[in-house]
Amino acid sequence: MNTHIVHIDRVSSTQDVAREMTPQELGTVIVADVQAKGRGRRGHVWLSPRGGLYASIILRSDPLVSLRVGVAVARALDQIGVTALLKWPNDVLVGGKKIAGILIEASGETAIVGIGVNIDSAPLPEATCIVNETGGLITRDDLLHLILHALEMTYEDDIIEAYRPLCATLGQAVGVNIAAGEQVTGIALGIDRDGHLLVDDGENTHIIVGGDCVHLDAGV
Ligand code: BTN
Repeated sequence: MNTHIVHIDRVSSTQDVAREMTPQELGTVIVADVQAKGRGRRGHVWLSPRGGLYASIILRSDPLVSLRVGVAVARALDQIGVTALLKWPNDVLVGGKKIAGILIEASGETAIVGIGVNIDSAPLPEATCIVNETGGLITRDDLLHLILHALEMTYEDDIIEAYRPLCATLGQAVGVNIAAGEQVTGIALGIDRDGHLLVDDGENTHIIVGGDCVHLDAGV
């Protein structure tokens, strides 16, 4: 992947900058110091003060891109001594606390992959950051390069096989909001070859394509 990194001081959201780029060249990475309106999955806000990593990468869409990027971020963190696991599909957790989030916005053949990593501060009590976990500090740009390299390496892997051992959700009692007012509760049994979560509610096994997953015993 040929990457071209564009640094911007302050943006509304790096996702919007990437989306408005014409042409949307694959491999372009928008990275900002601060986001005024960082956004997370399912309409959540992503608090983005100075000191974190906020980047959007323009990639060719693939059906497993969501898991792929989760694997890349977890592996990059592992390289700096942070053992992270993934809450399906791709919340990046350390000790049950969120350290990084991933937002995929796909249109046609292109996916705009947003990655936010807490480096020197955790903007919420239920979150953590790299400095809390390691006592050390990696620069934003060094971390971005580790993630981009790890992402490139995932194209050589069977991504499902790479994902399963990193997935903290497997074996957990979960509640997954799959649509407004519609929740599936049960035990997360597996991840199928399409990256879907298999949840056994005691009577049936549900194949969950997308949704907000909570680990019921841990409350995350
Ligand atoms: C989540 O866990 O809900 C996803 C968070 C994604 C945050 C990143 S920061 C860079 C990019 N720009 C955004 O506005 N969001 C993503």
